[in-house]
Amino acid sequence: MARATILTEIHGRVGMIRLNRPAQLNALNDELMDALGTALLDFDANTEIGAILITGSDKAFAAGADIAVMANWSYMDVYQRGFITRNWETIRQVRKPVIAAVAGYAMGGGCELALACDIIIAAESAQFALPEIKLAMLPGAGGTQRLPRAIGKAKAMDMCLSARMLSAQEADRYGLVSRVVPDAELPAAALKVATQIAGYSLPALMAIKEAVNRAHESSLSEGILFERRELHARFASEDAHEGMHAFLDKRKPVFQHR
Ligand code: CAA
Repeated sequence: MARATILTEIHGRVGMIRLNRPAQLNALNDELMDALGTALLDFDANTEIGAILITGSDKAFAAGADIAVMANWSYMDVYQRGFITRNWETIRQVRKPVIAAVAGYAMGGGCELALACDIIIAAESAQFALPEIKLAMLPGAGGTQRLPRAIGKAKAMDMCLSARMLSAQEADRYGLVSRVVPDAELPAAALKVATQIAGYSLPALMAIKEAVNRAHESSLSEGILFERRELHARFASEDAHEGMHAFLDKRKPVFQHR
């Protein structure tokens, strides 16, 4: 039987997805990206899930798009199959927080997949690069757009034009990742963060994610207006009243995710 390209597990309110093509360093082919998209949408629709965790192996989060598959494609092949748009952009539809736990290589499309997540937790072994220039290609899964927004033009141009590889420490310094932990601690640390987030009120998490993403896609005044409307909407939420009353009553809140 063919090996599953991803594995999924549920830990409490966390939906976990493990990329699972270890012999190819989790190179991202259509089958894997379709399966990843389906798993993401399933977890997003599951009311018992509050956050999603994506991880790879100890050696590679993912080494990019599958070069062996792409090598003989023509323009018409990629245009007609909707390469990138078809299954690489599913993650943008996910409204719940998505956390990437990255050990080893996060290269090309693997780095771009991590960049599309909301939080990146890196092991000390993590290495980030957009080396498509070495193939006379370009980062085509959002890398030329998300990387400059994440780390600024100077560092992004350097990575895209020279294929410079960043260590976890450099990625942390430049603001590409959220946290760095020792390799042995990555699975537990990532699950702990995901569990903490998933325990908060889901509609509040979704509103925050939407508002923070607006910062990239609107003017400051538009973004502030959007944020204010989201704040006002919180007062229609049972969880917000529960959260504030629990604080005043000096007890733990019990969220209904409404
Ligand atoms: N596609 C297909 N196969 C890949 C792959 C990829 N992106 N990356 C690694 N592999 C395969 C290798 O071909 C090799 O297979 P075999 O054992 O059958 O030869 C196996 O994974 C192990 O790889 P290496 O022997 O190369 O391992 P290494 O430890 O020596 O090097 C590496 C690791 C530096 C990550 C190296 O594999 C590498 O440079 N990979 C390619 C990275 C890359 O260029 N990514 C960008 C792809 S293009 C893209 O992603 C476009 C986009 O924007 C969507």
